[in-house]
Amino acid sequence: MFALESVTFAHPGGRSLLKDFSLAVPARQFCVLVGASGSGKTTVLRLMNGMLRPSAGRVRAGGRDTAEQDPIALRRGIGYVPQGGSLFPHLTVAENVELVPRLCGAAPAERARAAAEALAAVRLPEAEFAARYPDQLSGGQRQRAAVARALAGGAPVVMMDEPFGALDNALREELQDELGALLRRLGKTVVFVTHDIHEAVHLGDRLVVMSEGRILADGTPADVVLEAADPFVVRLLGRRRADLERFVRGKGDADG
Ligand SMILES: Nc1ncnc2c1ncn2[C@@H]1O[C@H](COP(=O)(O)OP(=O)(O)OP(=O)(O)O)[C@@H](O)[C@H]1O
Ligand SMILES: [Mg+2]
Repeated sequence: MFALESVTFAHPGGRSLLKDFSLAVPARQFCVLVGASGSGKTTVLRLMNGMLRPSAGRVRAGGRDTAEQDPIALRRGIGYVPQGGSLFPHLTVAENVELVPRLCGAAPAERARAAAEALAAVRLPEAEFAARYPDQLSGGQRQRAAVARALAGGAPVVMMDEPFGALDNALREELQDELGALLRRLGKTVVFVTHDIHEAVHLGDRLVVMSEGRILADGTPADVVLEAADPFVVRLLGRRRADLERFVRGKGDADG
């Protein structure tokens, strides 16, 4: 479980972005943070994984204050896909994807198996892509390799910051379906950031809508879509509101 508790945070030289901000993500939840550019989504993710520290309040992981945890051990427990991907440029795709298993001491055969599985999950066939360097990939392929790297580490928690931003709609929707199903099957706790409300509604068990460092709506996709009243949330749903309402109603029928 990850929780920000009454967190206050300002970037150096910036005004306070989060004030008394609280958000708890229970184990095995697929939580999607959605909001406009600059609303604080990446900042929340980086506070959760210990890359940023709050100036007041607490961040807890697995019930313990992250300030009292070894930052390297904390980070190893999280498969993190930073915004923009960020593969190591001097390592091949296979070396990037196998990096965490190697650091964790996995045997070569085990590493290779984890890497092959993860690359298959993001549709980057090993035979074609394993030996390439990041600058030999397209932007969308780089993003997918970064997702594979986060999966291959086997961490129980996965945090992804707009991992599908550079993909065309068709591939994006395929990966949403497949990756969503895979992460659920593996029982991962997921914190997923996007500015795309359609993606958020299709992927999440829970939607947290953010604007200017505040949470404007928080609930199941059905709650958020069907009960949208806040003007920002209504604007975010925009012209797709009717489609999204149909989708969440249909999903409710299928689940019930
Ligand atoms: N290192 C930094 N120093 C100063 N201000 C920062 C820094 N990083 C982010 N900010 C500011 O903090 C605010 C929130 O940034 P954040 O990256 O969390 O937004 P976001 O919701 O992830 O946006 P996007 O959808 O564009 O990625 C923005 O106004 C941004 O300009
Ligand atoms: Mg961001």
